[in-house]
Amino acid sequence: MKHFINLDELSNTDLNQIIDNAIALKKEHKSGQINKTLENKTLAMIFDKSSTRTRVSFEAGMAQLGGHALFLSNRDIQIGRGEPTTDTAIVIGSMVDAIMMRVSSHDDIITFSKNANVPIINALSDESHPCQLLADMMTYKEHKGNIKGKTVAWIGDGNNMCHTYMQAASVFGFKLNIATPIGYEPKQSFIDKYQDCITLHTDAKLACKGADLVVTDVWASMGQEQEQAKRELAFADFQVDETLMANANTNASFMHCLPAHRGEEVSTDVIDGPQSLVWDEAENRLHAQKALLLYLISDN
Ligand code: CP
Ligand code: NVA
Repeated sequence: MKHFINLDELSNTDLNQIIDNAIALKKEHKSGQINKTLENKTLAMIFDKSSTRTRVSFEAGMAQLGGHALFLSNRDIQIGRGEPTTDTAIVIGSMVDAIMMRVSSHDDIITFSKNANVPIINALSDESHPCQLLADMMTYKEHKGNIKGKTVAWIGDGNNMCHTYMQAASVFGFKLNIATPIGYEPKQSFIDKYQDCITLHTDAKLACKGADLVVTDVWASMGQEQEQAKRELAFADFQVDETLMANANTNASFMHCLPAHRGEEVSTDVIDGPQSLVWDEAENRLHAQKALLLYLISDN
C-alpha cells in the first residue's frame, strides 16, 4: 500500500517519475487528448480547513481521468459530531479507492493510513504540505531544469510549507536557507532531522544571498488568525520585495503556494512581476496531483 503523507517517504526516483509524468499529462490535457485511466475510481476528499487550489485540482483531476471525487467537509460528515477517526477511516476506506485529507492534526492522517486500507494523501496538515511541493518542484523543472545543487531561500514562518521544503531539500538535493523571526523557526525535530541540508538565519537578506529560488508563505496560517496582529509586527522585516530579491541571484525565481497577502509577506511588484512563477505553480497542482493519483491508485 502506497501513501503520500510526507514528501521524503518517496524516493528521488519515484518523485521525479511523478513530476515527469505530470509534465506529460499537462501536454496531453492541453492538446485535448482524453485519458480515462481512473474510470470507476473514487477519491474521497476530507476537508477540515478551507481550500481553493487543493479542492479544485483534485476534483478536476479525478474528473479528467474518468473518475469521481467526493467533497466531504468535516461540518457534514459524522466525524465532525464525534464519530471516532478510526471508525470513519474503516468505513470510508471500504467504499473508495483513495482518500485525500486536509486536517489540523497530522495524527489523523496517520490514523487513516493505519485503518483505511487504501492510499492516503496528505493535502495539508499542521506539519506538512507535500502536494504543494510536487507542484513547486514540477514548476522549477519546467522553467529552470534540475534543482539538484541549487540554493533555495525560505523567507517567513517555519510552518508546514517550510517543513516540506526541508524534506524537499533532502530528497531533491538542494541547499535551503531558512530566514525566520526568532521564535518562529521550524519544529526542532525537523531542524534535527534535516540539519545537513539547511541553514537557519534571522536576516532575510543573508538567506537570499546566492538563491536561485525565493519562497514565502502567509505569516498567519489557517487556525492562527487570532495571532495576525502579533505576527505582522514579528514578521515586519520578512517581506519579499524587490529590495530583498536583489540579494538573490539575477533571474532568481519567486514562488508562493497561495493564497497570498500582498503588502504583507510579499510585495505586489514581486508576486505580479517577471520573476514570479506563482500562476504556473498553482496550475501545476492539477497536473502534479493527476500524476500522483495515477502513481497511487492505478498500480495498486
Ligand atoms: N496552496 C494551497 O494549498 O491552496 P488552497 O489552500 O487554496 O488549497
Ligand atoms: N501555511 C499555510 C498554507 C496554505 C496553503 C496554511 O497552513 O494555512
